[in-house]
Amino acid sequence: MIPTPHIEAKSPDLIAKTVLMPGDPLRAKYIAEKYLENVTTFNTVRGMLGFTGTYKGRRISVMGSGMGMPSIGIYSYELFKFYDVENIIRIGSCGAYSPDLKLYDVIIVKAAYSESSFAFAQGKETKDVLSANAELNEKLINIAKNLNIPVHLGRIHSSDVFYREESGIHEKLYREKGCLAVEMESFALFHNANVLNKKAACILTVSDSLVTHEATTSHERQVAFEQMMKIALEMAE
Ligand code: HPA
Repeated sequence: MIPTPHIEAKSPDLIAKTVLMPGDPLRAKYIAEKYLENVTTFNTVRGMLGFTGTYKGRRISVMGSGMGMPSIGIYSYELFKFYDVENIIRIGSCGAYSPDLKLYDVIIVKAAYSESSFAFAQGKETKDVLSANAELNEKLINIAKNLNIPVHLGRIHSSDVFYREESGIHEKLYREKGCLAVEMESFALFHNANVLNKKAACILTVSDSLVTHEATTSHERQVAFEQMMKIALEMAE
């Protein structure tokens, strides 16, 4: 069933087996322009830009996921199921719940906790904690080690809500669920990988803290982002 309603590529050959997914499609464009060679554009539908190129001679794709589980749910499903993509690695930002996390720290996500109905609605999955693929994580951890980039490994919260009426929820989720930080996509991505027998992982940089209320500027975010990108791009095959 290609093209799909949301991706216009006419053949799976136009997309690499491994796709990096930032939330922001303009980030995908920036990554393609800055890091990749021999770049082709495989999607422009709804501005959710997708590119394929080579990194150190190895093929890799990069495409925006949009924000939130419904959005990454659509794009990751179509890439896995209809475009024969094997690995999706989300590269995103998160808000710290743990007082031990500093701005710009890099997290390799071990598992995502969520109160979201996504996994149950999609496939009657009743678990509220879903793991990243262990093999991809092992590769990511080894790459980080070789590049001398320190990383945290742990559980994060995938939230459906950015602006909450209730305050203090981060303390509870850190204490009771062991969530180090919050983002809004991993749980749906991991679920889709599970039901389609594919692999997914997620690397995050800390862009703000719910504990200290510090926030990064867009320039500072860019610098932290480079560290994460160095790790992710080495996953090219
Ligand atoms: N909440 C949810 N998602 C996020 C945040 C946050 O504070 N920061 C970066 N992604």
